[in-house]
Amino acid sequence: MKVLGFAGSLRKASFNKALLRAAVEVAPASMDIETFDLEGIPLFNQDHETQPPERVGEFKARIRAADAILIATPENNYSVPGVLKNAIDWASRPYGDSAFDGKPAAIMGASIGMIATARAQYHLRQCCVFLNMYLVNQPEVMVPFAQDKIDENGRLVDEPTRKRIGELLMSLMAWTKRLSAKTP
Ligand SMILES: Cc1cc2nc3c(=O)[nH]c(=O)nc-3n(C[C@H](O)[C@H](O)[C@H](O)COP(=O)(O)O)c2cc1C
Repeated sequence: MKVLGFAGSLRKASFNKALLRAAVEVAPASMDIETFDLEGIPLFNQDHETQPPERVGEFKARIRAADAILIATPENNYSVPGVLKNAIDWASRPYGDSAFDGKPAAIMGASIGMIATARAQYHLRQCCVFLNMYLVNQPEVMVPFAQDKIDENGRLVDEPTRKRIGELLMSLMAWTKRLSAKTP
C-alpha cells in the first residue's frame, strides 16, 4: 500500500515533519510511506489553476499515485497553517479535477502547546468533507509539548507517541482496504 505524507510546515526543524519521519519508521511492512515537501508551492492563483506551476502538478500526481494520504498539520492561530491550506487549494482545483477526490486519509499533528493541534485538525477535517476524502476517525494523534518529545536531531523519541502513530497507520491500512474492497 502506497501512502503519500506531507506536513503543513516548511520549517527545517519542523515537529510535524518529525512525525512524518516517525511514521515512515513505524509503518507496517506492507505500507510504503513517501513524503512530499510543500516547499516551492506558490500562493494559489486561480488564473493558473488549469495550467498550474510544475511543483503543483507534481504534488497532484503524487497524490493521485497514492492509495492513501497522511497529513501532519501544525496549528496556526487555532487553525490549519496557510502553507497547508494553500497546497490543498491548489490540489483540489480546477473544479472537477481534484486530486483528493475519494482518497482515504489520516491526520496527525504536533504543537508546542497543550491543545496539540486539536482545533487545526477539526478545521482540516471540515475541508476534507468538501474534498470528498474518507478520513480515519480513530485513533486521534494530537501531540502536545512536541519540543519535549522530539530530540535535537528531529527524532520523535516519545515511545507512546510512536506507538500511537503506528496504530493510526494500521487503522489507515484497514480503512483503505475496506474502501477499495469490491462490492458484490
Ligand atoms: C503564526 C503561528 C501561529 C501559531 N498558533 C498556534 C496555535 O494556535 N496553537 C498552537 O498550539 N500552537 C501555535 N503555534 C505554535 C506552533 O505549535 C509551533 O510553532 C509548532 O512548532 C509549529 O509546527 P512545526 O514545528 O511543524 O513547524 C503557532 C506558531 C506560529 C508561527
